[in-house]
Amino acid sequence: MINIGVIGCGKISLVRHIPEYSTNPNVELVAYYDLNNERSEAFSDHYGGKSYSSWQSMLEDSSIDAVSVCTPNWTHAEITIAALESGKHVLCEKPMAMNLAECESMVAAAERSGKFLMIGQNQRLAKAHVRARELIERGLIGDIITFDTKFGHNGPEKWSVDPGSNTWFFDKEMAGIGAMADLGIHKTDLIHYLTGQTIVEVTAKLDTLNKKSSDDKFIELDDNAFCIYKLSGGALGTMHASWTFNGQEDNSTIIYGTTGIMKIYTDSDYTIEIHRSDGEKEYYVTDRIQTNDDQTKSGIIDLFIKSIVNNEPPSISGQEVLKSMRAVFGAIESSERGCTVFLDQK
Ligand SMILES: NC(=O)c1ccc[n+]([C@@H]2O[C@H](COP(=O)([O-])OP(=O)(O)OC[C@H]3O[C@@H](n4cnc5c(N)ncnc54)[C@H](O)[C@@H]3O)[C@@H](O)[C@H]2O)c1
Repeated sequence: MINIGVIGCGKISLVRHIPEYSTNPNVELVAYYDLNNERSEAFSDHYGGKSYSSWQSMLEDSSIDAVSVCTPNWTHAEITIAALESGKHVLCEKPMAMNLAECESMVAAAERSGKFLMIGQNQRLAKAHVRARELIERGLIGDIITFDTKFGHNGPEKWSVDPGSNTWFFDKEMAGIGAMADLGIHKTDLIHYLTGQTIVEVTAKLDTLNKKSSDDKFIELDDNAFCIYKLSGGALGTMHASWTFNGQEDNSTIIYGTTGIMKIYTDSDYTIEIHRSDGEKEYYVTDRIQTNDDQTKSGIIDLFIKSIVNNEPPSISGQEVLKSMRAVFGAIESSERGCTVFLDQK
């Protein structure tokens, strides 16, 4: 059995990590910590295991094999590095960390410790995305010319276990980045996954257009981010992340290739739709993607546990996600400086 500790017992633990660990046959949930002890105690009462008074004391327990880091963004690097150094595998939630130096330190700690570092980029596991990547690889729409991907909902202040406009998601010190890192990292990383290419240039505009904190002032973080990405294989496309889609959540991606167009999560009946240049159309039904209001199984926990059981590095490793984080930080720099940022990566 793999003994698991969960650090941060808020919404993502409640709807994803804990339920998915609890149904994995190779897992024993043994440890929980949250600043709010009632939350960690509620988990230990319900699922068994112990509630700790600090994450440091949890990490001293050598019987724990791996931990999920589900705390606000500003704590990810410190807790992840300490957990790796204490000999535990880590599944850290996205966004990986607050700046590139922190992300690189996390990857270095994984390499030093020989333990696995996986990042919670669950969009790579959505069945339509897995299928879409296979179809693209098989050449169904030819070579990719352009793309357009979006992730928008009505904001994290309705999602968090501590809801309202005082949420940590709106606090620059705790979140670091707004919609760009909360939602934009998912679609930035998805473009790497779907195309097999790497983002090498970013031109972006991040802005705060609507979200206010409880003092009625605009939050200090972006609530919308528009990026133009140039990929290593030559494709060019857009990514829009938004906390102001005040209706239905949008999780769509459209890829325009030399012989066809692929639409993913644009239609309520079909999860993938292909319109080919010869007039043929193909439709696929796979799954519904997780939305804030409808959490389906993400598969991220099963993948983390599988990599530990088989002693194989996780495909969604810290090293892999570092490329996507470089694009996120590149977008912030581009927006601040008003120029295109060239990324030193292949
Ligand atoms: N993969 C995804 O799609 C996805 C979705 C939502 C959230 N997340 C990420 O998960 C992380 C947690 O977000 P959430 O939605 O659960 O937020 P939340 O506000 O619902 O919960 C955060 C929890 O962390 C606790 N906490 C705060 N500081 C802490 C500390 N220093 N040590 C221990 N506990 C602490 C709070 O008491 C709260 O229970 C964030 O990094 C977020 O970006 C990922």
